[in-house]
Amino acid sequence: VTYLQDIDTEKRGFGTFYDELPLWSAPFGLLLLERVPLRRGWTYLDVGAGTGFLSLELAQRCGPETTVIAVDPWGRATARLREKIARLGIGNVRVLEADAAEMGLPDASVDAVVSNLGINNFENAGAVLAACHRAARPGAPLCLTTNLTGHMSEFYDVFRETLVELGRTDRLASLDAHIARRGTVLSVSRLLEDAGFGVESVHERAFPMRFADGSALLRHAFVRLGFLSGWKSVAGPESLEVTFQALEGNLNARARRDGELGLTIPWVCVEARRSAA
Ligand SMILES: C[S@@+](CC[C@H](N)C(=O)[O-])C[C@H]1O[C@@H](n2cnc3c(N)ncnc32)[C@H](O)[C@@H]1O
Repeated sequence: VTYLQDIDTEKRGFGTFYDELPLWSAPFGLLLLERVPLRRGWTYLDVGAGTGFLSLELAQRCGPETTVIAVDPWGRATARLREKIARLGIGNVRVLEADAAEMGLPDASVDAVVSNLGINNFENAGAVLAACHRAARPGAPLCLTTNLTGHMSEFYDVFRETLVELGRTDRLASLDAHIARRGTVLSVSRLLEDAGFGVESVHERAFPMRFADGSALLRHAFVRLGFLSGWKSVAGPESLEVTFQALEGNLNARARRDGELGLTIPWVCVEARRSAA
């Protein structure tokens, strides 16, 4: 019985594959895994799979008769997912390096669609959801998570004060547009309904993300990876450094006042279903 064989934790490279997912993705992914139906033999589509923790988890939780199709155009992430699949010996995840809007799956070939933190990263969310609708069988469930407008509002309040203080009121429209890019429950539901998925339930949540101060926040590796380029575009190329120095100082002042820099992440898990016809 192969599963009874011991796992060699001293094997070269073992530690690399012990890390399963970005910590940022975890709270969202855990609720998604609480809600999505788990069925042996189904075909799942994971849209914007990234390095694929959700695909791997579904493939293993549902068993080898299940297939998970992990779609993402990001080559480095799909390469990493392929390595994990090979290392873990998981035979039921199919990796598709593609824009999900053009993934070319046969019509009605998928039993369930999942997406963790995908929808507000898709340039063409409407086209991606339309492609998911084509690929999903009538009545297929869809379960997605996304963070919402209000995300890190404490940070954005200080950003706004800083721009005003520096006389950079010309950048406020850019700040507002950046904040509005994250959806609301209503806008996400509309996107789904427009693509032919009826929303069945909405689970709103929020979690705190704590930093000692603004200096720590701005230097955090995942913050730099996931958020800093958007913040730089709000500040604009002229006086970028001056803006960030002032922002860091103001965030640090707030942290001194409050004892830490606490940010709130509001988010939602939406369950929907492809129309039966
Ligand atoms: C925030 S990451 C989430 C990754 C993963 N689901 C997780 O929870 O860790 C968003 C992912 O969406 C992918 N993405 C962006 N546009 C896409 C598209 N048009 N089709 C499929 N995936 C896309 C990105 O490459 C990225 O891997």
